[in-house]
Amino acid sequence: MSARQSLVAGNWKLNGSRASATALAKEVADGAAALSCDVLVCPGFAHLADVQATLADSTVALGAQNCSVEPSGAFTGEVAAPMIAEFGAQYIIVGHSERRALFGESSALVAQKAKAVQQADMQPIVCVGETLEQREAGQLQAVLDEQLDAVIDQLGIAGLAHSVIAYEPVWAIGTGKSATSAQAQEVHAMIRAKLAALDSEVAAGLRILYGGSVKPDNAKELFSQPDIDGGLIGGAALDAKSFLAICAAAS
Ligand code: 13P
Repeated sequence: MSARQSLVAGNWKLNGSRASATALAKEVADGAAALSCDVLVCPGFAHLADVQATLADSTVALGAQNCSVEPSGAFTGEVAAPMIAEFGAQYIIVGHSERRALFGESSALVAQKAKAVQQADMQPIVCVGETLEQREAGQLQAVLDEQLDAVIDQLGIAGLAHSVIAYEPVWAIGTGKSATSAQAQEVHAMIRAKLAALDSEVAAGLRILYGGSVKPDNAKELFSQPDIDGGLIGGAALDAKSFLAICAAAS
């Protein structure tokens, strides 16, 4: 048994209206009261206020999906971590593969964002993971090293104690083709071993979430693995019943 408290996070991506986000948050809040895992939802920026109000007095935490590296200034269109903190947010996802692939975010930039999140007294959920091409070319460890080393350089190994890592193989995201529990466990163990070589206590306490086509029917098997401490859920998080079933599998 691990001493780590499981976390299940819903990444709502670019979806919903104020009305639908509010309704989803309400249903999640109502269902989460009976759960023992930590539950987090990450709506779009425009829905943070509505979701914050809906989650008041619930056990569900609020997060965002991205932030600027800058705390303020002439950076038109950016959203700063301290602005997000004002909504009572506790986490911000950084380095999601969609940000890396579609918006050109480098590992150095992702690491700076993780630092900005911590400077605003929240925890970054740092996403890492390989493409199918990289996996098939035998580059998995090299990809993880490049993505994680940037974060370690920026936060220091001690700083990782105030963060969460999410392993999201790019080939499993939105494809319905989850990594098997054995594949995911192997990579989670690689990540933990890499960090343990620097600080065994930090590595032992760090929550490493799995993301990529997690559904109610595969969640329990994934979450039963020793180094999988919960999930980062995309599509299934948009349906309260599915999301709550996944949370129940982690509870
Ligand atoms: P899916 O659960 O839709 O595969 O998305 C995973 C993800 O990208 C979560 O951040």
